[in-house]
Amino acid sequence: MGNYLNIFIEVAYLIGIILFVDGLKKMSNPKTARIGNLIGALGMAIGILVILFVPLESGDNNYIWILLALLIGGVIGYIASVRVALTAMPEMVSLFNGLGGGCSMFIGLIELFKVFSGQVVSGPLQVTTGLFAIFVGAITLTGSLVAWGKLSGKLRDKLRLPVPQLINLVLLIACIVFGVMFIRDHQLNSLLIFLVLAMVYGFTFVTPIGGGDMPVVISLLNSFSGIAAAISGLLYNNRFIVVGGILVGASGIILTALMCRAMNRSLINVLIGGFGSSSAIEGLEGDQTIREVNYSDLAIQLKYAGKVIVVPGYGLAAAQAQHACYELEKQLESDGVQFYYGIHPVAGRMPGHMNVLLAEAQVPYDKLLDMEPANEQFPTTDVVLVIGANDVVNPAAKDSPGCPIYGMPILEVDKAKTVVILKRSMSAGYAGVSNPLFFKENTRMMFGDAKDSLAKIKTEIAGM
Ligand code: TAP
Repeated sequence: MGNYLNIFIEVAYLIGIILFVDGLKKMSNPKTARIGNLIGALGMAIGILVILFVPLESGDNNYIWILLALLIGGVIGYIASVRVALTAMPEMVSLFNGLGGGCSMFIGLIELFKVFSGQVVSGPLQVTTGLFAIFVGAITLTGSLVAWGKLSGKLRDKLRLPVPQLINLVLLIACIVFGVMFIRDHQLNSLLIFLVLAMVYGFTFVTPIGGGDMPVVISLLNSFSGIAAAISGLLYNNRFIVVGGILVGASGIILTALMCRAMNRSLINVLIGGFGSSSAIEGLEGDQTIREVNYSDLAIQLKYAGKVIVVPGYGLAAAQAQHACYELEKQLESDGVQFYYGIHPVAGRMPGHMNVLLAEAQVPYDKLLDMEPANEQFPTTDVVLVIGANDVVNPAAKDSPGCPIYGMPILEVDKAKTVVILKRSMSAGYAGVSNPLFFKENTRMMFGDAKDSLAKIKTEIAGM
């Protein structure tokens, strides 16, 4: 019977792992992403159910506790995911990462308490694994809480520590010292000091980072939460948890690298901080006259344009203007205008933010142009509508070597005949850098909430 149970468990784990991999693969394409998500969730459900059949060495079972935890966690997770606004998604992801890290931290602590109290005898390798689970888990927990605080505005973005790199180095060395002490003497004091140091390290690790770099940090912490889970899997010799954790860890690292590449920055540069922390306004020289356009003039330009490209940014999400945008697209296409969207890889506040937003409004996927094809199209475009985007179209990234976003590839919208910028004010984007594009000869500003402005433009066109 025991053998059959083991085979059943191993086969079920294997199915769960295959579902994870298949789900991840499908998530890389917008057309299959939704089903990929469901397949991944099914893999996880199998893992959770099957682990309940694993016989415990003590012969006890904790089913009541497990079911209670599943129920409470499931209800909270469901309510959180149904209620969360798309714009608040990074905050939620950050909190969930933190909880995953916290979980691994507690698993490591429970196992090492057993060592300290003499309940189990463990060799240095198992103890080191437990310490790693605590270390990575604790960093993920406190680091993610800081990230969540910054994103939700509960913590100041410009919270800075003096000499953060030195503080981090000292903390890291102290962690190693107390970790080695615990491996040697199994004393509770060493373990508790190690835990506190690791938690403080998570705090000081994320504190210097801010502004436009937060999504990168969240992705990195996501990867840490996977690594922490994989280490917990090693503690229990559970292949399902190890593989699941490695998949999260690896995909988080890949995403982090992709984001850094899209911003043309190294990960070290992101971690050292400084981007988005500058309140200095860069790249503003020469003529600073702004030219506004009204709804009816813009409606005429759009209706008689050959080609129009919309460049969406964070403001489109904030205004929830994606449906209004698609309405405008349908209207103009019925008038024979070619209509596309130029998507910058780091537009918005999370990877694929604009793609998800436009897909939600039923915008056909073949209308979305990546940065390079979009840049090829701008010189032959009559009107570019920049809707709630700022940093991703800021020419200072190309022209002002001192500015914090210098080097980031941008959508070169100024190459179009006319650029119209829909935003509420002259304020800077997420990186805190003023935008010389607003003052260019061929740029027109349209101030107001993006959704309202788009609705008014559409009404004007419909009335023509
Ligand atoms: P931002 O530069 O943040 O600009 C968004 C603009 O939207 C603001 O200038 C704001 O101006 C406008 N806005 C806000 N609410 C609006 C509303 N209701 N109606 C109209 N406009 C509104 O956005 P972006 O161009 O998308 O750039 C993204 C930033 O995030 C970049 O700095 C990027 O490096 C960073 N980042 C993103 C990611 C990912 S994965 N997406 C990763 C790392 C970093 P007003 O206040 O004047 O309206």
